[in-house]
Amino acid sequence: MSLWLAALGARITGFSLAPPTEPNLFSLVGAAADVDSVIGDIRDLPALEAAVARARPEIIIHMAAQSVVRASYTDPLTTYSTNVMGTANLLDVARRCPDVQAILVVTSDKCYENREQIWAYREHDRMGGHDPYSNSKGCAELVVAAFRDSYFRKAGVAVATARAGNVIGGGDWTADRLVPDAMRAFLARRPLDIRNPIAVRPWQHVLEPLQGYLLLGARLLGDDAGAYAGGWNFGPGHDSNQPVSDVVDALAACWGGGATWRQVGDPADLHEATLLHLDSTKANIKLGWTPVHTYKTAVALTVDWFKAYEAGADLRAVTQAQIEAYMNHHPRTV
Ligand SMILES: NC(=O)c1ccc[n+]([C@@H]2O[C@H](COP(=O)([O-])OP(=O)(O)OC[C@H]3O[C@@H](n4cnc5c(N)ncnc54)[C@H](O)[C@@H]3O)[C@@H](O)[C@H]2O)c1
Repeated sequence: MSLWLAALGARITGFSLAPPTEPNLFSLVGAAADVDSVIGDIRDLPALEAAVARARPEIIIHMAAQSVVRASYTDPLTTYSTNVMGTANLLDVARRCPDVQAILVVTSDKCYENREQIWAYREHDRMGGHDPYSNSKGCAELVVAAFRDSYFRKAGVAVATARAGNVIGGGDWTADRLVPDAMRAFLARRPLDIRNPIAVRPWQHVLEPLQGYLLLGARLLGDDAGAYAGGWNFGPGHDSNQPVSDVVDALAACWGGGATWRQVGDPADLHEATLLHLDSTKANIKLGWTPVHTYKTAVALTVDWFKAYEAGADLRAVTQAQIEAYMNHHPRTV
């Protein structure tokens, strides 16, 4: 997001904990060159307040989160304090910063109460979430709605939330996520261990929701911004709802060189929602947003990036080229 915003000419301040993995995308692409980077914790209200007061942002794009379902089972309190109270802290700071005109809070498709239904979820469906991560994102949605109704609407600040599906792409090294786990295994020339190969997820390349967030952010800063406040789904196309087994087959085929996977453990050990599709009609009609990549292209772009990492390529250039190719393919942002 920082590289893309920089390419569009934005002045960016970032506020985050130190990069949580080694290696990490932030360092590998030299994002510090584009961002006034503040290392801090969104649970630390004075530090957050000082950073926002210094940056005086026109728009805040809130992505900081404890973002992993499995980690949320191990440490629910960190998940809730970060995802719920961290969001409340940011909104409270933002309402005291007169420069803020718009706020976009990134939650998740998992914010919805999962009724394991065959129909896709729409923005007005009930919030819920079975596991602590999903539930914390449903809670964050409710916190945003309360701040919008209590403060921001009256102040003329447009506040939206964005719900995307399972995001994949180059440079993600997060533990206990399918694609990073696959890339680590293939780089180390060992088979990938899979817990639940039949689970169906909505896979999408990271540039797809980012494009949606940029289109939405522009509207939140434009005329009639209030019409764009509220929840927005940015889900992948229907061909992207694929079982884990198909995605790892595609990853292994793209990687080549005998890359393979095997099923381990009892998939019934942990509850993870089995089916959840997003209906993105609203983003399509009102923002002109539509996903452009099939899941196979998303997989290929991701493998290309990790192959470039293995080859010691200039990853800033590789990432910028992927962003530029996306912008040329789908030029509405520029
Ligand atoms: N990756 C996905 O598939 C996916 C899908 C839907 C929604 N999301 C949401 O999108 C957002 C970005 O996801 P991601 O995959 O880039 O996550 P990520 O885990 O890679 O990045 C999260 C960032 O938040 C920062 N962070 C965590 N706790 C913090 C704290 N207490 N204070 C300050 N910074 C903190 C981390 O340092 C990291 O930079 C998250 O809100 C996530 O829940 C992700």
